[in-house]
Amino acid sequence: MVTIAVTSEGAGETRVAATPDTVKKLIAAGCAVKVQAGAGAHSRFADAQYQAAGATIAATAAEAIADADILLKVRRPSATEVRGLKAGALVAAILAPYDDRADLDGLAGTGASLFAMEFMPRITRAQSMDVLSSQANLAGYKAVVDAASMFEQAVPMMMTAAGTVPAAKMFIMGVGVAGLQAIATARRLGAIVSATDVRPATKEQVASLGAKFIAVEDDEFKQAQTAAGYAKPMSAEYQKKQAELVTAHLKIQDVVITTALIPGRPAPKLITRAMVDGMKPGAVIMDLAAERGGNCELTEPGKIVDHNGVRISGPLNLAGTVPVNASSLYARNLLTFLETMIDKKDKVLKINWDDELIKGTLVAKDGKIVHPNLMAKEGM
Ligand code: NAI
Repeated sequence: MVTIAVTSEGAGETRVAATPDTVKKLIAAGCAVKVQAGAGAHSRFADAQYQAAGATIAATAAEAIADADILLKVRRPSATEVRGLKAGALVAAILAPYDDRADLDGLAGTGASLFAMEFMPRITRAQSMDVLSSQANLAGYKAVVDAASMFEQAVPMMMTAAGTVPAAKMFIMGVGVAGLQAIATARRLGAIVSATDVRPATKEQVASLGAKFIAVEDDEFKQAQTAAGYAKPMSAEYQKKQAELVTAHLKIQDVVITTALIPGRPAPKLITRAMVDGMKPGAVIMDLAAERGGNCELTEPGKIVDHNGVRISGPLNLAGTVPVNASSLYARNLLTFLETMIDKKDKVLKINWDDELIKGTLVAKDGKIVHPNLMAKEGM
């Protein structure tokens, strides 16, 4: 029997790594599940629902973890928590493997096999396990809803007997998963939407959602996508040309949503102080890259900054502000990943360490960091 532990997250994290629905499916797959009391409370999942799904409720994290083979978390757990697991147990979480290396080394030192869910390869087989997509999709939606609520004007055009209210202009910078959902949401609200990205593939996607594409389309732009589908860092020359175009465009925007990221690097700075100086008072910038340093020079992670009437918000966990959905999708991502490791018939863990999903996400094993992305970083 494979025993799975689900414990509460730290302060500020509203999500939970398993839902009553995924618990039921894990049990059907031959697992026993122990959930710490109150672990699902912020996501509105009551202990009684987990219990009805077949889980055992443990009074404390230590009790949930004792003798567990697998610990499921949203965020990186502490080494102390992981030490309570069986020797060589598995931990799956959004580990933020590029952050706080000393802490990650400490966690690796426990001997647990650590899986970073954000390293899931972006291949067809792993689509249902892709936590970056599931969480970014919700973040993109919520960014527009929150920005619309901060914006002190109406978003859609309204023709009334007393006059016409113009539609708000919304500009989405970075058209990955979050950006695409932001465009779709902004369109649903009735905004006039434009978007930019350095990857040429996004041009068609933006157009298909009914938004206008804004970018410097030179030779560098045509090759700005890596084989893995991510953006490459752009040259200083390209960034200058892009900045000129963006500066002019920003002057007429009401709401700007920025989502630009490059894996393993600080977020590219797309909006400078001077650009914000040129924007309209009352405009709102919602910077989804705040956690990685922000796409706007004035962003302060976790805060709203007022710069001459332009408000810049740097939310840190937007997906966590729709915890019911975020937890449900994240827990499903974990479930489908775990199903690849569990032998349903014999009710034992059967891990194929050569599977590209395992190799792609395994960050540490037997006390050592093993992921190539993190080994290269050691020498930097
Ligand atoms: P991300 O979160 O790493 O970055 C967000 C966006 O910022 C990207 O579109 C990127 O091109 C853009 N960006 C980076 N630098 C920029 C700059 N200087 N100016 C403007 N934009 C900039 O990306 P995300 O959302 O994780 O998606 C990356 C790609 O992977 C997308 O093509 C997405 O459709 C694809 N994908 C594929 C999956 C699969 O095949 N299973 C699953 C999910 C996403």
